[in-house]
Amino acid sequence: MKRLLLVAAAVGSLLALTALSQKMQSSPDIQKEPFGKAPDGEQVFLYTLKSPSGMTVKITNYGGTVTQILVPDRNKKFGDVVLGFNSLDGYTSKDNTAYFGALIGRYANRIAGGRFTLDGKTYQIPKNDHGVNSLHGGDVGFNKRIWQATPSGTAKNPALDLHYTSPDGEEGFPGTMQVYVRYSLGNDNDLRIDYRATTDKITIVNLTNHSYFNLEGAGSATVLNHKLTLMADKFTPINANLIPTGAIAGVAGTPFDFRKPTVVGAHINEKNQQLEYGKGYDHNFVLNASSGLALAAKVEEPKSGRVMEVLTTQPGIQFYSGNFLDGKNVGIGGPYRYRSALCLETQHFPDSPNHPNFPSTVLKPGQEFRSTTVYRFSTE
Ligand code: GLA
Repeated sequence: MKRLLLVAAAVGSLLALTALSQKMQSSPDIQKEPFGKAPDGEQVFLYTLKSPSGMTVKITNYGGTVTQILVPDRNKKFGDVVLGFNSLDGYTSKDNTAYFGALIGRYANRIAGGRFTLDGKTYQIPKNDHGVNSLHGGDVGFNKRIWQATPSGTAKNPALDLHYTSPDGEEGFPGTMQVYVRYSLGNDNDLRIDYRATTDKITIVNLTNHSYFNLEGAGSATVLNHKLTLMADKFTPINANLIPTGAIAGVAGTPFDFRKPTVVGAHINEKNQQLEYGKGYDHNFVLNASSGLALAAKVEEPKSGRVMEVLTTQPGIQFYSGNFLDGKNVGIGGPYRYRSALCLETQHFPDSPNHPNFPSTVLKPGQEFRSTTVYRFSTE
Protein backbone atom coordinates (compact mmCIF):
# COMPACT_ATOMS: atom_id res chain seq x y z
CA MET A 1 0.00 0.00 0.00
CA LYS A 2 2.75 2.36 1.10
CA ARG A 3 4.65 1.53 -2.06
CA LEU A 4 1.61 2.19 -4.18
CA LEU A 5 1.17 5.59 -2.55
CA LEU A 6 4.81 6.42 -3.18
CA VAL A 7 4.51 5.47 -6.84
CA ALA A 8 1.34 7.55 -7.15
CA ALA A 9 3.08 10.55 -5.56
CA ALA A 10 6.06 10.17 -7.89
CA VAL A 11 3.82 9.94 -10.95
CA GLY A 12 1.87 12.97 -9.70
CA SER A 13 4.93 15.14 -9.29
CA LEU A 14 6.26 14.00 -12.65
CA LEU A 15 3.00 15.05 -14.29
CA ALA A 16 3.10 18.40 -12.49
CA LEU A 17 6.70 18.95 -13.61
CA THR A 18 5.83 18.12 -17.23
CA ALA A 19 2.90 20.52 -17.13
CA LEU A 20 5.12 23.22 -15.63
CA SER A 21 7.84 22.76 -18.24
CA GLN A 22 5.24 22.78 -21.01
CA LYS A 23 3.84 25.98 -19.59
CA MET A 24 7.31 27.49 -19.39
CA GLN A 25 7.94 26.48 -22.96
CA SER A 26 4.73 27.94 -24.25
CA SER A 27 4.42 31.16 -22.27
CA PRO A 28 6.38 34.01 -23.81
CA ASP A 29 9.11 35.68 -21.79
CA ILE A 30 8.30 39.28 -22.60
CA GLN A 31 10.21 41.91 -20.69
CA LYS A 32 8.21 44.99 -19.69
CA GLU A 33 9.90 48.14 -18.43
CA PRO A 34 8.83 51.75 -17.86
CA PHE A 35 9.54 53.94 -20.90
CA GLY A 36 8.47 57.35 -19.68
CA LYS A 37 5.39 59.44 -18.99
CA ALA A 38 3.12 60.51 -21.85
CA PRO A 39 2.21 64.23 -22.12
CA ASP A 40 -0.99 63.51 -20.13
CA GLY A 41 1.07 61.97 -17.30
CA GLU A 42 0.24 58.35 -18.03
CA GLN A 43 3.05 55.85 -17.62
CA VAL A 44 3.95 54.04 -20.82
CA PHE A 45 5.98 50.87 -21.20
CA LEU A 46 8.52 49.21 -23.44
CA TYR A 47 8.05 45.53 -24.28
CA THR A 48 10.86 43.31 -25.55
CA LEU A 49 10.03 40.37 -27.80
CA LYS A 50 12.86 37.94 -28.40
CA SER A 51 12.71 34.85 -30.58
CA PRO A 52 14.86 31.72 -30.05
CA SER A 53 16.99 32.80 -33.04
CA GLY A 54 17.89 35.99 -31.16
CA MET A 55 15.83 38.42 -33.22
CA THR A 56 14.72 41.15 -30.82
CA VAL A 57 11.95 43.67 -31.31
CA LYS A 58 11.12 46.45 -28.86
CA ILE A 59 7.70 48.04 -28.89
CA THR A 60 6.18 50.77 -26.75
CA ASN A 61 2.46 51.05 -26.17
CA TYR A 62 2.81 54.80 -26.89
CA GLY A 63 1.67 54.89 -30.49
CA GLY A 64 2.19 51.12 -30.74
CA THR A 65 5.68 52.14 -31.82
CA VAL A 66 8.48 49.77 -32.84
CA THR A 67 11.61 51.31 -31.31
CA GLN A 68 14.22 48.70 -32.26
CA ILE A 69 14.59 45.62 -34.46
CA LEU A 70 17.81 43.68 -33.89
CA VAL A 71 18.74 41.16 -36.58
CA PRO A 72 22.06 39.54 -37.61
CA ASP A 73 24.28 40.59 -40.49
CA ARG A 74 26.12 38.07 -42.67
CA ASN A 75 28.74 37.64 -39.89
CA LYS A 76 25.98 36.89 -37.36
CA LYS A 77 26.50 40.25 -35.70
CA PHE A 78 23.23 41.71 -34.45
CA GLY A 79 22.39 45.30 -35.33
CA ASP A 80 19.43 47.61 -35.02
CA VAL A 81 17.82 48.19 -38.40
CA VAL A 82 15.12 50.74 -37.54
CA LEU A 83 15.35 54.36 -36.47
CA GLY A 84 14.19 54.84 -32.90
CA PHE A 85 14.76 56.42 -29.49
CA ASN A 86 15.55 54.81 -26.13
CA SER A 87 13.11 56.94 -24.17
CA LEU A 88 9.69 58.41 -24.75
CA ASP A 89 11.00 62.00 -25.01
CA GLY A 90 12.36 61.38 -28.51
CA TYR A 91 8.89 60.42 -29.65
CA THR A 92 6.93 63.17 -27.88
CA SER A 93 9.40 65.93 -28.81
CA LYS A 94 7.90 68.67 -30.98
CA ASP A 95 10.80 68.07 -33.37
CA ASN A 96 9.48 64.60 -34.13
CA THR A 97 7.26 65.00 -37.14
CA ALA A 98 8.52 61.80 -38.76
CA TYR A 99 6.21 59.15 -37.20
CA PHE A 100 9.24 56.93 -36.39
CA GLY A 101 8.12 53.29 -36.07
CA ALA A 102 4.55 54.17 -35.11
CA LEU A 103 1.17 52.66 -35.87
CA ILE A 104 -0.64 55.03 -38.19
CA GLY A 105 -4.41 55.59 -38.29
CA ARG A 106 -7.26 56.17 -38.52
CA TYR A 107 -6.24 57.07 -42.06
CA ALA A 108 -2.60 56.52 -43.01
CA ASN A 109 -1.19 58.89 -45.65
CA ARG A 110 -2.93 61.94 -47.09
CA ILE A 111 -6.51 63.06 -47.63
CA ALA A 112 -6.88 66.08 -49.92
CA GLY A 113 -8.08 69.13 -48.01
CA GLY A 114 -8.82 66.81 -45.08
CA ARG A 115 -12.29 66.31 -46.59
CA PHE A 116 -14.26 63.27 -47.60
CA THR A 117 -17.90 62.33 -48.07
CA LEU A 118 -19.73 59.23 -46.84
CA ASP A 119 -23.42 58.56 -47.51
CA GLY A 120 -23.83 62.16 -48.69
CA LYS A 121 -22.33 63.67 -45.54
CA THR A 122 -19.04 65.59 -45.74
CA TYR A 123 -16.48 65.29 -42.97
CA GLN A 124 -13.60 67.66 -42.25
CA ILE A 125 -10.53 66.33 -40.46
CA PRO A 126 -7.48 68.39 -39.44
CA LYS A 127 -5.31 69.76 -42.24
CA ASN A 128 -2.11 68.94 -40.38
CA ASP A 129 0.04 68.67 -43.51
CA HIS A 130 1.19 72.27 -44.09
CA GLY A 131 -2.42 73.41 -43.61
CA VAL A 132 -3.36 71.82 -46.93
CA ASN A 133 -4.09 68.13 -46.44
CA SER A 134 -4.63 65.72 -43.64
CA LEU A 135 -1.70 63.40 -42.98
CA HIS A 136 -1.57 60.16 -40.98
CA GLY A 137 -4.83 60.57 -39.08
CA GLY A 138 -4.79 64.28 -38.18
CA ASP A 139 -3.26 66.26 -35.31
CA VAL A 140 -3.40 63.42 -32.81
CA GLY A 141 -3.32 60.20 -34.78
CA PHE A 142 -3.02 56.65 -33.47
CA ASN A 143 0.74 57.26 -33.29
CA LYS A 144 0.19 59.58 -30.31
CA ARG A 145 -2.34 57.41 -28.49
CA ILE A 146 -1.64 55.08 -25.62
CA TRP A 147 -2.58 51.53 -26.52
CA GLN A 148 -3.62 48.82 -24.10
CA ALA A 149 -0.90 46.17 -24.35
CA THR A 150 -1.10 42.46 -23.49
CA PRO A 151 1.83 40.08 -23.95
CA SER A 152 0.76 36.91 -25.76
CA GLY A 153 2.03 34.20 -28.10
CA THR A 154 4.48 31.48 -27.08
CA ALA A 155 8.15 31.35 -26.07
CA LYS A 156 8.96 30.41 -29.68
CA ASN A 157 6.66 33.01 -31.19
CA PRO A 158 6.26 35.84 -28.70
CA ALA A 159 3.63 38.45 -29.46
CA LEU A 160 2.21 41.70 -28.17
CA ASP A 161 -1.51 42.43 -28.52
CA LEU A 162 -2.47 46.09 -28.72
CA HIS A 163 -5.93 47.55 -28.49
CA TYR A 164 -7.18 51.09 -28.91
CA THR A 165 -10.72 52.46 -28.89
CA SER A 166 -10.97 55.51 -31.12
CA PRO A 167 -14.10 57.40 -30.05
CA ASP A 168 -16.81 58.61 -32.42
CA GLY A 169 -15.75 62.00 -33.81
CA GLU A 170 -12.10 61.66 -32.83
CA GLU A 171 -10.09 63.94 -35.16
CA GLY A 172 -13.36 64.40 -37.05
CA PHE A 173 -13.79 60.76 -38.12
CA PRO A 174 -17.26 59.24 -37.70
CA GLY A 175 -17.90 56.09 -35.65
CA THR A 176 -16.32 54.51 -32.62
CA MET A 177 -13.56 52.30 -33.93
CA GLN A 178 -12.09 49.30 -32.12
CA VAL A 179 -8.58 48.69 -33.37
CA TYR A 180 -6.55 45.58 -32.60
CA VAL A 181 -2.96 45.15 -33.67
CA ARG A 182 -0.83 42.10 -32.96
CA TYR A 183 2.93 42.18 -33.35
CA SER A 184 4.42 38.67 -33.39
CA LEU A 185 7.76 37.07 -34.14
CA GLY A 186 7.75 34.11 -36.53
CA ASN A 187 10.25 31.28 -36.99
CA ASP A 188 12.20 33.04 -39.75
CA ASN A 189 13.53 36.26 -38.22
CA ASP A 190 10.25 37.83 -39.19
CA LEU A 191 8.02 40.40 -37.56
CA ARG A 192 4.37 39.95 -38.41
CA ILE A 193 1.75 42.66 -37.91
CA ASP A 194 -1.93 41.73 -37.93
CA TYR A 195 -4.44 44.57 -37.98
CA ARG A 196 -8.18 44.39 -37.25
CA ALA A 197 -10.76 47.15 -36.95
CA THR A 198 -14.51 47.47 -36.52
CA THR A 199 -16.81 50.48 -36.34
CA ASP A 200 -20.33 51.33 -35.16
CA LYS A 201 -20.96 53.93 -37.91
CA ILE A 202 -19.81 54.14 -41.52
CA THR A 203 -16.23 55.44 -41.58
CA ILE A 204 -12.90 55.10 -43.39
CA VAL A 205 -9.81 53.19 -42.32
CA ASN A 206 -6.22 52.84 -43.51
CA LEU A 207 -3.70 51.36 -41.09
CA THR A 208 0.05 50.96 -41.40
CA ASN A 209 3.32 50.94 -39.53
CA HIS A 210 5.79 53.76 -40.17
CA SER A 211 9.15 52.10 -39.46
CA TYR A 212 12.24 53.66 -41.00
CA PHE A 213 14.74 51.03 -42.12
CA ASN A 214 18.45 51.19 -42.65
CA LEU A 215 19.75 47.64 -43.03
CA GLU A 216 23.35 48.72 -42.50
CA GLY A 217 22.25 49.87 -39.05
CA ALA A 218 20.22 52.77 -37.70
CA GLY A 219 22.28 55.95 -37.89
CA SER A 220 24.27 54.88 -40.96
CA ALA A 221 24.70 57.70 -43.41
CA THR A 222 22.29 56.88 -46.20
CA VAL A 223 20.05 54.29 -47.84
CA LEU A 224 21.00 55.33 -51.37
CA ASN A 225 23.11 52.13 -51.64
CA HIS A 226 20.20 49.86 -50.63
CA LYS A 227 18.99 47.67 -53.49
CA LEU A 228 15.22 47.78 -53.76
CA THR A 229 12.78 45.55 -55.61
CA LEU A 230 9.09 46.45 -55.71
CA MET A 231 6.50 44.00 -57.02
CA ALA A 232 4.66 46.82 -58.73
CA ASP A 233 4.11 47.48 -62.43
CA LYS A 234 2.20 50.66 -61.59
CA PHE A 235 2.20 53.59 -59.21
CA THR A 236 -0.11 56.49 -58.37
CA PRO A 237 1.42 59.79 -59.59
CA ILE A 238 0.96 62.81 -57.30
CA ASN A 239 0.43 66.54 -57.61
CA ALA A 240 2.63 69.19 -55.98
CA ASN A 241 0.84 68.57 -52.63
CA LEU A 242 1.64 64.84 -52.78
CA ILE A 243 -2.00 63.97 -53.43
CA PRO A 244 -2.61 61.30 -56.10
CA THR A 245 -3.95 62.74 -59.33
CA GLY A 246 -6.16 59.66 -59.67
CA ALA A 247 -4.11 58.26 -62.53
CA ILE A 248 -2.59 54.80 -62.33
CA ALA A 249 0.61 54.96 -64.35
CA GLY A 250 3.03 52.33 -65.57
CA VAL A 251 6.53 52.37 -64.06
CA ALA A 252 8.25 51.16 -67.25
CA GLY A 253 10.84 53.63 -68.50
CA THR A 254 10.55 55.87 -65.40
CA PRO A 255 12.65 56.25 -62.22
CA PHE A 256 9.79 54.36 -60.51
CA ASP A 257 10.70 51.06 -62.14
CA PHE A 258 11.97 48.87 -59.29
CA ARG A 259 10.74 45.62 -60.81
CA LYS A 260 14.36 44.46 -60.96
CA PRO A 261 16.71 45.11 -57.99
CA THR A 262 17.80 48.77 -58.31
CA VAL A 263 19.78 50.89 -55.87
CA VAL A 264 17.64 53.60 -54.32
CA GLY A 265 20.11 56.27 -55.42
CA ALA A 266 20.20 55.21 -59.09
CA HIS A 267 17.65 57.77 -60.34
CA ILE A 268 16.63 59.70 -57.22
CA ASN A 269 18.26 62.95 -58.32
CA GLU A 270 17.13 62.80 -61.94
CA LYS A 271 15.12 65.67 -63.37
CA ASN A 272 11.63 64.29 -63.12
CA GLN A 273 8.49 66.12 -62.06
CA GLN A 274 7.26 63.28 -59.84
CA LEU A 275 10.59 63.14 -58.01
CA GLU A 276 10.54 66.93 -57.64
CA TYR A 277 7.07 66.82 -56.10
CA GLY A 278 8.11 64.08 -53.68
CA LYS A 279 11.56 65.61 -53.01
CA GLY A 280 12.68 62.08 -53.88
CA TYR A 281 10.54 58.98 -53.54
CA ASP A 282 7.34 59.51 -51.58
CA HIS A 283 4.90 57.57 -53.72
CA ASN A 284 2.34 54.83 -53.51
CA PHE A 285 3.03 51.75 -55.62
CA VAL A 286 0.21 49.54 -56.84
CA LEU A 287 1.11 46.00 -55.88
CA ASN A 288 0.74 43.35 -58.57
CA ALA A 289 -0.64 40.66 -56.27
CA SER A 290 -4.40 40.75 -56.05
CA SER A 291 -5.04 38.47 -53.09
CA GLY A 292 -3.45 36.80 -50.10
CA LEU A 293 -0.22 37.51 -48.28
CA ALA A 294 2.24 38.19 -51.11
CA LEU A 295 5.75 39.53 -51.51
CA ALA A 296 5.58 43.30 -52.05
CA ALA A 297 9.17 44.47 -51.66
CA LYS A 298 12.70 43.29 -51.10
CA VAL A 299 15.61 45.37 -49.80
CA GLU A 300 19.24 44.24 -49.94
CA GLU A 301 22.12 46.05 -48.27
CA PRO A 302 25.51 45.11 -49.72
CA LYS A 303 27.84 45.94 -46.77
CA SER A 304 26.02 44.02 -44.03
CA GLY A 305 24.49 41.46 -46.37
CA ARG A 306 21.15 42.03 -44.65
CA VAL A 307 18.02 41.42 -46.67
CA MET A 308 14.47 42.42 -45.80
CA GLU A 309 11.37 41.14 -47.55
CA VAL A 310 8.01 42.79 -47.06
CA LEU A 311 4.91 40.68 -47.52
CA THR A 312 1.42 42.09 -47.29
CA THR A 313 -2.26 41.56 -47.97
CA GLN A 314 -2.64 45.27 -48.76
CA PRO A 315 -3.06 46.64 -52.32
CA GLY A 316 -0.42 49.40 -52.03
CA ILE A 317 2.92 50.33 -50.54
CA GLN A 318 4.28 53.84 -49.92
CA PHE A 319 7.97 53.98 -50.69
CA TYR A 320 9.35 57.02 -48.88
CA SER A 321 13.09 57.70 -49.09
CA GLY A 322 13.42 59.75 -45.90
CA ASN A 323 13.43 63.08 -47.75
CA PHE A 324 12.22 65.06 -44.73
CA LEU A 325 14.79 63.69 -42.30
CA ASP A 326 17.24 66.47 -41.51
CA GLY A 327 19.43 65.30 -38.64
CA LYS A 328 17.38 67.15 -35.99
CA ASN A 329 16.15 63.95 -34.38
CA VAL A 330 18.94 62.26 -32.45
CA GLY A 331 18.05 58.69 -31.60
CA ILE A 332 19.71 55.46 -30.50
CA GLY A 333 21.72 55.41 -33.74
CA GLY A 334 22.74 59.11 -33.58
CA PRO A 335 21.30 61.92 -35.70
CA TYR A 336 18.84 60.68 -38.28
CA ARG A 337 19.95 62.48 -41.42
CA TYR A 338 18.52 63.22 -44.86
CA ARG A 339 17.73 59.97 -46.68
CA SER A 340 19.36 57.86 -43.96
CA ALA A 341 16.39 55.48 -43.89
CA LEU A 342 13.50 54.32 -46.01
CA CYS A 343 9.90 53.46 -45.25
CA LEU A 344 7.83 50.81 -46.94
CA GLU A 345 4.35 51.51 -45.63
CA THR A 346 1.85 48.83 -46.65
CA GLN A 347 -1.50 50.48 -47.12
CA HIS A 348 -4.54 51.36 -49.20
CA PHE A 349 -3.83 54.18 -51.64
CA PRO A 350 -3.55 57.76 -50.38
CA ASP A 351 -6.71 59.89 -50.64
CA SER A 352 -8.81 56.83 -51.58
CA PRO A 353 -12.02 58.36 -50.19
CA ASN A 354 -11.80 60.96 -52.97
CA HIS A 355 -10.94 58.52 -55.77
CA PRO A 356 -13.73 56.06 -56.60
CA ASN A 357 -11.36 54.19 -58.93
CA PHE A 358 -9.06 53.24 -56.00
CA PRO A 359 -9.77 50.21 -53.75
CA SER A 360 -12.28 51.31 -51.14
CA THR A 361 -11.28 52.28 -47.59
CA VAL A 362 -14.88 52.49 -46.34
CA LEU A 363 -15.70 50.42 -43.27
CA LYS A 364 -19.30 49.80 -42.24
CA PRO A 365 -20.83 48.46 -39.04
CA GLY A 366 -20.87 44.67 -39.10
CA GLN A 367 -17.74 44.53 -41.27
CA GLU A 368 -14.25 43.82 -40.01
CA PHE A 369 -11.16 45.35 -41.57
CA ARG A 370 -8.26 42.88 -41.56
CA SER A 371 -4.76 43.08 -42.94
CA THR A 372 -1.38 41.47 -42.40
CA THR A 373 2.14 42.62 -43.13
CA VAL A 374 5.35 40.67 -42.53
CA TYR A 375 8.89 42.08 -42.41
CA ARG A 376 11.21 39.10 -42.92
CA PHE A 377 14.98 39.37 -42.43
CA SER A 378 17.78 37.20 -43.77
CA THR A 379 21.31 37.64 -45.15
CA GLU A 380 23.11 37.01 -48.41
C1 GLA B 1 4.86 59.65 -44.99
C2 GLA B 1 4.61 60.69 -46.00
C3 GLA B 1 5.79 61.58 -46.12
C4 GLA B 1 6.17 62.18 -44.78
C5 GLA B 1 6.38 61.07 -43.80
C6 GLA B 1 6.61 61.60 -42.42
O1 GLA B 1 5.65 58.66 -45.44
O2 GLA B 1 4.25 60.16 -47.25
O3 GLA B 1 5.52 62.60 -47.03
O4 GLA B 1 5.15 63.00 -44.34
O5 GLA B 1 5.27 60.21 -43.77
O6 GLA B 1 7.61 62.56 -42.38
